[in-house]
Amino acid sequence: MNETIQKNLNYKKYVVDSKLQYFKPHASKIEKTFAEEISSSLNNDSKFITPKFFYDKKGSDLFEKICTLPEYYPTRTEIEILKNLQADLPSFIDESFRLVELGSGASVKTRLILDVFTKIQQSTEYFPIDISEILTESSEQLLRDYDSLHITGIIDTYEGGLEFLKNYDEKKNLILFLGSSFGNFSPVDGKNFLQKINSTMKSDDLFLIGLDLVKDSKVLESAYDDSQGITAQFNLNVLSRINDELDADFDLNNFSHHSIYNEEDQRIEMYLKSLVNQSVIISKSNLSLNLEKNELIHTEHSHKYTLDQIRTLLTSTGFKINHIWLDDNSFFSLTLASKN
Ligand code: AVI
Repeated sequence: MNETIQKNLNYKKYVVDSKLQYFKPHASKIEKTFAEEISSSLNNDSKFITPKFFYDKKGSDLFEKICTLPEYYPTRTEIEILKNLQADLPSFIDESFRLVELGSGASVKTRLILDVFTKIQQSTEYFPIDISEILTESSEQLLRDYDSLHITGIIDTYEGGLEFLKNYDEKKNLILFLGSSFGNFSPVDGKNFLQKINSTMKSDDLFLIGLDLVKDSKVLESAYDDSQGITAQFNLNVLSRINDELDADFDLNNFSHHSIYNEEDQRIEMYLKSLVNQSVIISKSNLSLNLEKNELIHTEHSHKYTLDQIRTLLTSTGFKINHIWLDDNSFFSLTLASKN
C-alpha cells in the first residue's frame, strides 16, 4: 500500500483481519448537509428532492423489495445476463485483475462475477466502494462464502472511491457499475462521471456497466408503479425521512406517487404529487413550504438507452467497447469497455 497516497487522501484504515480492511475518509468533506440541500431544492418554483436521499435504512430495504417485484424487470434481467456472461468473462480477465465495484450495496449480483474470478484466480481481491456501511455486513458474508477472497472496502462517495483507486497500485482493475444506477444521473453529470471513471483507469483496466434499454412504455411505467405499491412507498418514504431527520410535518396522506415515461427524453420521471393546497414546516431547513393542489416535487429520473446511444456515450467519454451482452428480449444491457 502506498502510505503517501493514503495520507494525502485523508483516509483512515481499519484492519479487521488478514482478509478484510476498510478505508474511510478521516474528516467529512465539506459537503452541504441534508438540511441545506433540502432547503435549497424545495425553496424553488420547480421543487425537487435528489434521489440519493431515498436510501436511508427503510428506503434501502424498500429498494431491495422493488428489485424482487414481478414488474421490476431490471434486476432479474441483469442477473440473467450476468449468468450468460460468466462463460465469456475468462477471455477478458486473468490472475492480474482485481474487482472493483461502484455502489456495491448488498453485493448480490457481484457474486456472479466473483464466481468467475475465484475460479480462475488463486487469490481474489475485491474493492467495494459504497457510501453506506451496509458494505461491512455484505463483505463479512462474502468472506464466509469465498475462501480465496480478500476485501478492501472503501466507505465513501463514488468520486472519493475513484480518487482513492487512482494510482493506488499497478494492479489491473475491472470496475463494475451495475443496475443502471448510471441512469439516475442527469445526462451532463453522467458524462462527467464516465470521464472521471475513464481518467481513473489504467490502460489495461476494464469497465463493466449495466444500462437499461428503451422499451415499450407500458413495461416501463408498470416497473415504476407496481401493483403492490412498493415503489410508491419508496418514493413517499423520502418525506418520512425529512420528517424524522429535519423535524418536518409532511402528512403523507396529502401526497401521492406519480411516475410517467417521457418518450422524448427517454426517461422515467418520478414525482410526489401534492393532493391539496398545503403548507409544510421543515424546521431544520428553516423552511415553510407552500404547495398547491397537483403541484409536483420531482424525485428521480431513470434514463433508458438505445444501443447506439450507449456506444456513443462510451466512445465520447474515452472508452472503446469490447463486448455488449443482452437478454433475449433486449430489455437490459451489460457493456464491457476499456480505455481508448
Ligand atoms: C437505483 N436505480 C437504478 C433505480 C432505477 O430503476 O432507476 C431506482 C428506482 N426507482 C424506482 N424504482 C427503482
